[in-house]
Amino acid sequence: MGFLQRLFFTVIAFSSITILAQSDDGIEAEIHSLLSKMTIEEKIGQTSLRGTSSRVDGSLSDELKSAVREGRIGAFLNVMNTDYVKELQKIAVEESPNKIPLLFGRDVIHGFKTIFPIPLGIAATWNKDVAKSGARISALEASSVGIRWTFAPMLDISRDARWGRIAESPGEDPFLASVLAKAYIEGFQGEDLKSSTSMAASIKHFIGYGAAIGGRDYNTVIIHNALLHNVYLPPFKTAIDAGALTLMTAFNEINGIPATGNKFLLKDLLRDELGFNGFIVSDWASVTEMIAHGYARDYEHAAELSIKSGMDMEMSTHAYENSIQKLMDKNLISEKELDFLVANILRVKLKMGLFEKPSFPSNEQNVFYKTEYLEAAKNAAIESFVLLKNEDVLPLSSNQTFAVIGPLADAPHEQLGTWTFDGDKEKTITPVDAFQNSSIDFMFAQGLTYSRDKSTELFEEAISAAENSDVILFFGGEESILSGEAHSRANIDLPGAQEELISKLAETGKPIVLVIMAGRPISIMNIIDKVDAVLMAWHPGTMGGPALFDVLAGISEPGGRLPVTWPKDGAQSPIYYNHKNTGRPADQFNYTNIDDIPIGAWQSSIGNRSHYLDLGYKPHFPFGYGLTYTDFEYSDISISSKSIQVNESVEISAKVKNIGSRKGREVVQLYVQDVVASITRPVKELKGFEIITLNPGEEKTIKFTINPKDLSFVTFNDERVLEPGKFNVWIGPNSSSGINSSFELK
Ligand code: GLC
Repeated sequence: MGFLQRLFFTVIAFSSITILAQSDDGIEAEIHSLLSKMTIEEKIGQTSLRGTSSRVDGSLSDELKSAVREGRIGAFLNVMNTDYVKELQKIAVEESPNKIPLLFGRDVIHGFKTIFPIPLGIAATWNKDVAKSGARISALEASSVGIRWTFAPMLDISRDARWGRIAESPGEDPFLASVLAKAYIEGFQGEDLKSSTSMAASIKHFIGYGAAIGGRDYNTVIIHNALLHNVYLPPFKTAIDAGALTLMTAFNEINGIPATGNKFLLKDLLRDELGFNGFIVSDWASVTEMIAHGYARDYEHAAELSIKSGMDMEMSTHAYENSIQKLMDKNLISEKELDFLVANILRVKLKMGLFEKPSFPSNEQNVFYKTEYLEAAKNAAIESFVLLKNEDVLPLSSNQTFAVIGPLADAPHEQLGTWTFDGDKEKTITPVDAFQNSSIDFMFAQGLTYSRDKSTELFEEAISAAENSDVILFFGGEESILSGEAHSRANIDLPGAQEELISKLAETGKPIVLVIMAGRPISIMNIIDKVDAVLMAWHPGTMGGPALFDVLAGISEPGGRLPVTWPKDGAQSPIYYNHKNTGRPADQFNYTNIDDIPIGAWQSSIGNRSHYLDLGYKPHFPFGYGLTYTDFEYSDISISSKSIQVNESVEISAKVKNIGSRKGREVVQLYVQDVVASITRPVKELKGFEIITLNPGEEKTIKFTINPKDLSFVTFNDERVLEPGKFNVWIGPNSSSGINSSFELK
């Protein structure tokens, strides 16, 4: 074979494993060298992620140890016995054929030991620094036991409060979700991937998982390409641009093809368009679930479909391990295709420096629950709380007496929220704990023993406590199990007899503060008129009690703004602010409540608009909403030019003044509408926000710059376009109010 031919084949061989030859400081060459030495069995081994068969308790099976010794396993999840981590890693790096280190993964979603608010609560802070510090602290705690890979952040845009996994999501808006996505990657992975405290992120679930029909988990997803690019993709793109090392496929099919075997998603979109060059891991059994989907005939076919799509590592099931050799023998899969998968996995391990410094549990003591970690978790909770109603009852005054009532007032496990694997509930400080640690005079009468409790046995005691107190503090909501994976609810009201108890307590005439701990917006339309204040606390984590105490007492103010639209009822879902206008947009002039329709009304006598006769057309509270303990006034919106060229930016500003009596935090939000376009565009989209704190009477001018790229969108033929025309802009406190202006793009 001549020199030129050899050169040609070398280039081909090399390029088969090089997706994007960025400045990789020799990593691609190292990958190439390793692949040339590895047997087929070892290559298959790297694609195998062993699940809980690693037997966390009891002895470590010899079968497992010999599999590692022979290089037949590349990574583990849920191995929480540090002795096992040490033993398995030692076998891998000292005895396996090419000494390839293992990667140990875990769902470190919103904290490892120190538990932060659930991700939807973190999203409610709108604060990238809170998201980043929580992720960094999680990585510091988890990496100390050898965990260097987390299956987070979950970046699924969520528009349906019935969906249990909205709890884990960054909310409904692509702009806010993208800001958080970058912060999470920076927090989890840290500044140096080779640091022993860096934890590879796994952005998930790719893609469209939050659009499951009916909010029913795992269900069918239909998303056209423009919607995919304009709403669901942005947080993933931002995370990839921020250097996310791994990505997890979604359980769902999208447009008829399961994500885990979807070549368009995993190659054309992820690799070619977004330039992702980490590795892709399947979500639990999603490879073999393609059989149930009706997309794969059997395990071998499922493995073939996933491999052909470029899905690198199979979690928990063994389709790859048992099929790849057979597929190669049948020439259905080539070694080059296998090398592509293995190269992506090796690239991550090399980037993390695991060959030089394999991850072992550190022997450092007292890494968990450090004071500064607990303080960060408390602050995150405070900034996550969203004040939905306050009829002059908050903040409380210390000369009042309180009846602390409700199933979530002293529920250390529930308070931690969904996807809490390693946090110790014994470390949770509940609201009752916090009140007990204070000098406040209060009585505690649960009224209900858990959120779904239907028994009225304890009502009398609770009512008596209320009658003998000045103010009722009702801690209600959902047990943590009622949200999260597979836990969708059609009816999203307060479970059990909570509404009944609140109604009874309201009869005492005492003011009621309702604090909700839940993994989703809760329908409160039946009881909101019976309470004087409503504070959404999400599931606030380890320090939820002290955080709630400080906010209720006015030591701090609730900082949160809704990251999702809050429906009146689950039946309104999916409901979201950045909706389309439709040809018959709803408005108050064309809406007649069902109970107000005249008997015998003529067919077209009431408004022919897009609304529900019984629930109307507005949510209970809009995206971006949240009250404070002061008031802000917006004025003097101004725009740098009423007409700009496509290569010019435009500056929009407004004055914001604290017209209340307390220092306050405000999330100033910028929304834009593309009024007419070649495909219909949302009635408004968040394009910027700024968190400010103003003293009473203080006024500040907030400025936003809109660049033309911010106004572009993807059309159905995959093109990103920028179209001339009129754009409306708003600056305000949430998605449904604010002051507005407009400009023309020429
Ligand atoms: C679960 C979840 C995924 C999680 C994985 C490992 O089924 O869908 O988010 O990371 O399995 O626990």
